[in-house]
Amino acid sequence: MAKRNFQNKRVLLTGASSGIGWYLASELVRAGAYVVVTSRRADRLQQLRQAFGNPRKRLISVPGDVADPQHRVRLIETTVEQLSGIDIVINNAGIGAIGPFCEATPDRLRRVFEVDFFAAAELTRLALPHLKQGNQPAVCIVSSVLAHRAVPGKSEYCAAKFALRGWAESLRLELRPQGIDVIDICPSTTHSEFWDSLIETTQDVKNVRTGAQSAESVAHSILSAIRMRRRDLILSPGGKALVWLSRLAPRLTDNLLLKYAA
Ligand SMILES: NC(=O)c1ccc[n+]([C@@H]2O[C@H](COP(=O)([O-])OP(=O)(O)OC[C@H]3O[C@@H](n4cnc5c(N)ncnc54)[C@H](OP(=O)(O)O)[C@@H]3O)[C@@H](O)[C@H]2O)c1
Repeated sequence: MAKRNFQNKRVLLTGASSGIGWYLASELVRAGAYVVVTSRRADRLQQLRQAFGNPRKRLISVPGDVADPQHRVRLIETTVEQLSGIDIVINNAGIGAIGPFCEATPDRLRRVFEVDFFAAAELTRLALPHLKQGNQPAVCIVSSVLAHRAVPGKSEYCAAKFALRGWAESLRLELRPQGIDVIDICPSTTHSEFWDSLIETTQDVKNVRTGAQSAESVAHSILSAIRMRRRDLILSPGGKALVWLSRLAPRLTDNLLLKYAA
């Protein structure tokens, strides 16, 4: 199978106003792609466009909330109108929450699922008719190592990312006859604004970021995985170790997580 390249690819990317998404957008444009980006903070998307001069109008911003069905429709319509089609969708927008499930509101669970799961699934649904006509088409999901092994205090986030993984696994097989790749990328802890945007979080999260990867290197690895047509990828050695340990010795992993991650 030929490697994918980004030259003149038409990419729809969510969550580009900070962190991993910011670097995904920058690297995609440098690689010659046309990119439609979205997130709620319009000023940040404006800064992103200015950050690298926006050669040949390769970056188009459509600010809005991916959890809003009308915004998702607008996003697809604008992408198709401006770029005459879609080749790659990268579902990167995400939010988290930290704290015991029993102390959280039902709204916390709904909000995390709306952004982390339903928005990605429903945006992809809208994009599929266009991806079917696309050039080396792909759907990429920026998930988490917590889609493979849940930890205490992040029940909503883990559940939403587990849901994404199950959905992606099924979709991958459904779309294979049409030549559309589904690529599931699982970063570990990453330096980004994710930790400042946690919703309904009372816990101090300063120490959570020990050993975190940079958003730039995570973005680079994600784009390499899309290029190499990877099926899925757990990005960090620590993440891989956690997942393997949990498969081989789930009870031991439970005990270790209770001791060190609670
Ligand atoms: N940071 C980590 O440790 C880590 C680890 C594993 C996986 N991940 C995953 O990586 C992805 C990117 O996160 P990040 O670390 O780069 O965090 P980040 O800097 O907070 O970026 C999240 C992006 O999502 C956007 N977003 C959030 N809610 C949105 C909404 N309702 N509508 C539209 N856009 C929305 C944010 O923009 P606005 O606020 O402007 O809307 C921002 O651009 C997420 O899916 C996250 O779950 C992160």
